[in-house]
Amino acid sequence: MNDAEGLKKIAGEAACEFVKSGMRVGLGTGSTVKYTVLELARRIQEEGLQIVGVPTSIATENLARENGVPLVELGSLDGLDIVIDGTDEFDPNFQLIKGGGAALLREKIVAQQSAAMVVVADARKQVECLGAFGIPIEITPFACDVTVSRLETLLKCNVQLRKNGSEYILTDNGNCIADAHTGPNILDPLATEATILNIAGVVQVGLFNNMCDAVVLASKDGVKTLMNPAGRLKRA
Ligand code: A5P
Repeated sequence: MNDAEGLKKIAGEAACEFVKSGMRVGLGTGSTVKYTVLELARRIQEEGLQIVGVPTSIATENLARENGVPLVELGSLDGLDIVIDGTDEFDPNFQLIKGGGAALLREKIVAQQSAAMVVVADARKQVECLGAFGIPIEITPFACDVTVSRLETLLKCNVQLRKNGSEYILTDNGNCIADAHTGPNILDPLATEATILNIAGVVQVGLFNNMCDAVVLASKDGVKTLMNPAGRLKRA
């Protein structure tokens, strides 16, 4: 395991401290939270941890099933106690860019149903100002090029549909996904989110504002948990 992978593992596993028996847990998507799912599976098997999980993507659903994490439908529960998820960037106000793995729509639905959100990250994800990572935007296949040019006009930047060769990459929901390359200058993420969501062809945007309660951050100096002072969580 190389250094970057090692940091993902440290962060992903450390976040499991927030999970106690009886909890209903949102399971995020990506290469960092993968280690959270695997550690929860280990605790279920070896320590008798009792939880139910709600996955945020087909990939996470498969990973959880293969490793024996019990899953339920989001709609069968009256909310979740916590969601643990990765991020592409987080800023000093705990605002996030997510969706690098194209799972942002389900991730946001699950996060909105959760009483708390813990993010797992390595030091590369910590930024002063959001936007160096292009903002992922899920859009309808219908007239997707029209939606993209509207986005380009409004955001004054290049917006690129994700493709595999000449084929559009589709999300788990059958939609297209594009990335808006604003550069690291998103000074008001709430305003940017509102601007993007106002376009009819936009299904959802990967700006996650005022959702993250804590970041479990791994760096070469070790792992620490950054608590959002405005968040809903106390330390694990
Ligand atoms: C999935 O769509 C994303 O939101 C991921 O949670 C995010 O891209 C972080 O993924 P990694 O942990 O793989 O960097």
